[in-house]
Amino acid sequence: MVDTLGDWARTHTCGGLRASDAGRDVLLLGWVHKVRDLGHLVFLDVRDRYGLTQVIADDEALRTRARQLRAEFVIGVKGRVRPRAPEAINRRLPTGEVEVQAAELRVLSEARVPPFVVADDVAASEELRLKYRYLDLRRPSLQANFGLRHRVTMAVRQYFDGAGFWEVETPVLAKSTPEGARDYLVPSRVHPGEFYALPQSPQILKQLLMVSGFDRYFQIVKCFRDEDLRADRQPEFTQIDVELSFATRELVFAAIEPLMQRIFEAAGLHVDVPFPRMTYADAIARYGSDKPDLRVGMAIADVSGVFAGSTFGVFRDAVAAGGAVRGLVVPGGGRASRRELDALTGEAKAAGAGGLAWVRQAGSAVQSPILNAAGEATLRAALEAAGAGEADLLLLASGAPDATSRALGRLRLSVADARGWLEPGAFAFTWVTDFPLLEWDSEERRWVAMHHPFTSPVEAHIDRLEEEPGKALAQAYDLVLNGSEIGGGSIRIHDTGLQRRMFSLLGISEEQARLRFGFFLEALEYGTPPHGGIALGLDRIVAILAGEPSIRDVIAFPKTAQAVDLMSSAPAPVDDRQLRELKLRIGD
Ligand code: AMO
Repeated sequence: MVDTLGDWARTHTCGGLRASDAGRDVLLLGWVHKVRDLGHLVFLDVRDRYGLTQVIADDEALRTRARQLRAEFVIGVKGRVRPRAPEAINRRLPTGEVEVQAAELRVLSEARVPPFVVADDVAASEELRLKYRYLDLRRPSLQANFGLRHRVTMAVRQYFDGAGFWEVETPVLAKSTPEGARDYLVPSRVHPGEFYALPQSPQILKQLLMVSGFDRYFQIVKCFRDEDLRADRQPEFTQIDVELSFATRELVFAAIEPLMQRIFEAAGLHVDVPFPRMTYADAIARYGSDKPDLRVGMAIADVSGVFAGSTFGVFRDAVAAGGAVRGLVVPGGGRASRRELDALTGEAKAAGAGGLAWVRQAGSAVQSPILNAAGEATLRAALEAAGAGEADLLLLASGAPDATSRALGRLRLSVADARGWLEPGAFAFTWVTDFPLLEWDSEERRWVAMHHPFTSPVEAHIDRLEEEPGKALAQAYDLVLNGSEIGGGSIRIHDTGLQRRMFSLLGISEEQARLRFGFFLEALEYGTPPHGGIALGLDRIVAILAGEPSIRDVIAFPKTAQAVDLMSSAPAPVDDRQLRELKLRIGD
């Protein structure tokens, strides 16, 4: 039998009672977390967003009622707070010093047996949890994630408000902006055969707001990208999108660093600013990645000079062919067993290295599988050049410079991870700057923008764009945290002529440019301030702060890697009538 709420209003949440409340008459409302029947007593744990309180039913009628309750029933309890006996105090629970002796109980809603126990140590598969996401979201750890996400978004809004930014909403039914992924399209009923594109980002629109003189803009905005999904990618995700007029890179960095401090404060953490910076070229050479995880040092060293004239043919020839020999020092790795060394070699090959050589010191001797071929003096010089100490292990690989660094970079991460050096509680930021403007797409056989086509080249490279497109650097930057790209932005092109040249470099014909971006090119002709900005990945930032491996854990209703919402079964077929209205037919 279900009761009505009537005039019952809660006096406290399930997380609020303390020892000082003893003797108070209270009314709690929440979910039954657990029922424990001791015969003469029935214990109820009652749960809500705020915590858990132990309720005791000891009189006959209440006990009978309490025994009928099951997990996830919604109940109301009137009762009196009393201190727990010393041996019954639960120090892990903020309410653990008290319990509520029930005087009256109402069942407000019954619950079917849930498909999994609503608790943090639940062993249910992720599929089942996503199908019943509304139950999954009752788990305290997920609720804590959403509390954190809320505090972060509030901190973002407060910060930007204080810094003179306006929050402006841009349309979701929009025209395609290229960010490198496929668009989600929405058919128009009024204009059959025509489509809106859900924005991959509000890039063009925020630039237009600068043309409009809005000066400083931000938006916490949903973006949509039809791309391959991973733990840190969802088809719809949230950006903290920012644009400033009269912006230099320094101005953007000076706006974003204190923002990150405020975001971290919202999570009770402190970060130092300014953040370190490194160029893209350095990041690739020294860490083998454009998003280096700087929670560990272990920079990759170039030891090509040591091997250029050496007797070890593989390395000597690699250098002669324009390649490089690079080394990774594993601190304290000198005592690695043969098995560990073999495993590292296997991993290096899997990571794309042609092979891996190792060098270490054992007392006064040098040990290495290439000792005979390379000679002790050369290997000692390599150890020194790479900065390897007596207890360290030096791993060496050769080949094309970037590919060699990338392979060692992957090894660097897996070694650091295996040794527990990537601490979850440590936060290492870096700006990565001076990205190449363009990348060669060998499939499409054309240049594509590394960030997006609105990114300005470095001024000194504008003149020779057409002659040496591959050499041009962009005024683009990424913000990297613990090896994850949490933001990207640039100083923009604000001149129509240069923007047209950029489109033409990307193989977009004048006609296509006019059709797709004509309105934008025209807008640039009406007095455009130099401008620039950035977009930060809110989901990624909150996931890192929450210590979650996937952004799914900080998104209320996420999709699977197959872009499916398992709860509502979206995407789904639609009625024929809807298709007819849209003048659409499903092909095969
Ligand atoms: P970019 O494409 O680098 O830049 O995106 C900005 C940031 O958004 C996050 N992000 C994602 N997060 C979750 N799922 C995804 N599928 C996803 N894709 C991107 C990342 C990324 O760093 N318009 C430009 C910004 C600008 O130039 O101002 C843009 O969208 O953290």
